[in-house]
Amino acid sequence: MDMKRINITEAAPGMLVAEDILNSANQLIVPKNSALTDKAIARMRFHMIGSFRIFVEDGEAPAAPEPVSSGAEPSYFDKLRDTPEFLAYSGSFNNTVSVMEDEFKKMLEGKTIADTETLTAATANLRASCRTGIQVFDLLHCFREYDDITYAHSLNVSLICAVEGEWLGFSDKDIQILIQCGLYHDVGKMMIPKSILDKTTPLTPDEKKTVESHTIQGYNFLKDKDLDNRIKLSAVMHHERCDGSGYPMNLTADKIDNFAKIVAIADVYEAMTSPRSYRKAKCPFEVMRMFESEGLSHFDPKYLMVFMENITQSYMGTHVRLNDGTVGTIVYINKLCYSKPLIQTSDGNYIDLSKQNRLYIEAML
Ligand SMILES: [Fe+2]
Repeated sequence: MDMKRINITEAAPGMLVAEDILNSANQLIVPKNSALTDKAIARMRFHMIGSFRIFVEDGEAPAAPEPVSSGAEPSYFDKLRDTPEFLAYSGSFNNTVSVMEDEFKKMLEGKTIADTETLTAATANLRASCRTGIQVFDLLHCFREYDDITYAHSLNVSLICAVEGEWLGFSDKDIQILIQCGLYHDVGKMMIPKSILDKTTPLTPDEKKTVESHTIQGYNFLKDKDLDNRIKLSAVMHHERCDGSGYPMNLTADKIDNFAKIVAIADVYEAMTSPRSYRKAKCPFEVMRMFESEGLSHFDPKYLMVFMENITQSYMGTHVRLNDGTVGTIVYINKLCYSKPLIQTSDGNYIDLSKQNRLYIEAML
């Protein structure tokens, strides 16, 4: 067989690698004679491997990567999917999720602690690749095809935490810790059987208990690791609620760590705006509606208000559809009721949603 040097952009699953591929620290990334997989390619991209050699039949040209089809119906988030920012973001996102998965699995096997510095830097880079904090939200809203909910969810939560930390004026050091709180908050889910996590029918009481144990299992797993204590507390406390209605310990506001309170908001927002097999993704304003109806007793208002204000303000001027089918533009955010702004319809009329009990924003267009 001949060998041929190709660029990483030409790499495709199934190609046979003709040399050991090492990263800058001389660690083996992909061994010689192995067939490339999506994961191996993502790993090589993450370690910035520019080119490498593959085996080819005499005169055979390397296969081209499969084109990605879109096929989505146009909406606010669908349109974003075609932007260069989104394409760049999705590449980095995939790479980071892939490395995160590998690192966490190694950690679970007891081999080593995850390379927290690399993961934090990769997450911070993802954040930095977006011009504004709200662009992070926009991109994560339209990036929902990932099949592994736990890793992609944790990375998204981590990004939301980073942006919330910026909005709150936190120091760079604290933002780095918040990123790590997000990355590790659901680490205990690695100890829960996948058959239960992936279940699409209602959980039995015993299964529910098992899922809820990811908080304690995550804490027990992290407690002896060389990590900031707030990361460990976020793992065990991110399902606690300020009114004592959460789990596993029914803690009230004064007993819940501040960083865990921030992770809790990010976790709920991320989960609700993601599609699940049993329901569609919720529009950001629907999540705001939930935060306003029950969130004020569950979450710390000093974090929740900053979060809601920044997100809703960013959607000024956005076209939306109401639940009765009316289409209009958001022209004023009501600070007493973020989920119910003033809407101007195409015929020039105004609808003050805060005065309309039955009307709400259903979708962004
Ligand atoms: Fe969780």
